Amino acid sequence: MDVGMAGKTALVTGASQGIGRAIALGLGAQGARVALVARRRPLLDEVAAAIVASGGPAPHIIEADLYAEDAADRIHADARAALGPIDILMNAGGGSRPIDFDATREQWMEGMTLNFFRLRELTHAVVPEMRERKYGRIINITGTSEPRGLNAAFSAKAAVHIWAKGLSRLVAADGVTVNCIQPGRIRSEQIKKRYPTLEDELAFAQEEIPAGRFGEPEELANLAIFLGSPLASYVNGTVIPVDGGMYRHAF
Ligand SMILES: NC(=O)c1ccc[n+]([C@@H]2O[C@H](COP(=O)([O-])OP(=O)(O)OC[C@H]3O[C@@H](n4cnc5c(N)ncnc54)[C@H](OP(=O)(O)O)[C@@H]3O)[C@@H](O)[C@H]2O)c1
Repeated sequence: MDVGMAGKTALVTGASQGIGRAIALGLGAQGARVALVARRRPLLDEVAAAIVASGGPAPHIIEADLYAEDAADRIHADARAALGPIDILMNAGGGSRPIDFDATREQWMEGMTLNFFRLRELTHAVVPEMRERKYGRIINITGTSEPRGLNAAFSAKAAVHIWAKGLSRLVAADGVTVNCIQPGRIRSEQIKKRYPTLEDELAFAQEEIPAGRFGEPEELANLAIFLGSPLASYVNGTVIPVDGGMYRHAF
């Protein structure tokens, strides 16, 4: 299916592995010109090579640490110089930050910086040109809204949901959409650390996930690519789970 990606420019954070990697591979295979962002250069090189092998345009690689104070401006300037104005931003960089009740202010700030502040700053850097050009897609990979304890990332992801909803209303008339995708349990590096074996996965999945298994990154990337495409022009301000039915609430 041609989703109208050819020639579009896309910036993908967290592109070195897991969900961001699958999104980058999918965008590249659909003909988008992609800028890949993460810290681990060798993994980004592998993703870039896989995109070229699939027939996609050669990606631009941006080795960057999202904790750096100037990360958002630097990443945007680098991507802008290489690709021109950005049509699609996939905010997939981030990670879970379980913490104790006694966690320090620094621990809270670390989780919020990675999972909310930088994501917001990068988005605000790309949105003005999207509005001018009357096309833009912001897709935020967030997380579960059912906390099982304290986790700085949960608070950050909730902040993303609220900020994204407000932003979606501000920019909608200019052809820019802002949506969030909530992964349930999608196979990736961080999930592998928590559930090292297939038995660990199945023990959780059989209890909690109606589908009875963890998801593959590509199963989430399919939705992200649709939301990034011109086909999704009337989908805005949403939070959509990709979780095999794990979410227990009706609304
Ligand atoms: N997988 C799931 O089931 C699940 C569930 C809930 C939420 N999520 C969320 O979905 C997003 C992607 O998840 P994932 O499972 O693919 O995550 P992951 O396995 O932890 O991968 C995280 C990605 O973010 C990048 N990253 C992390 N810290 C960074 C930093 N300081 N600077 C630059 N890049 C950084 C990593 O690249 P480098 O290490 O190379 O820099 C990597 O590409 C995350 O926000 C995660 O919280 C995932």
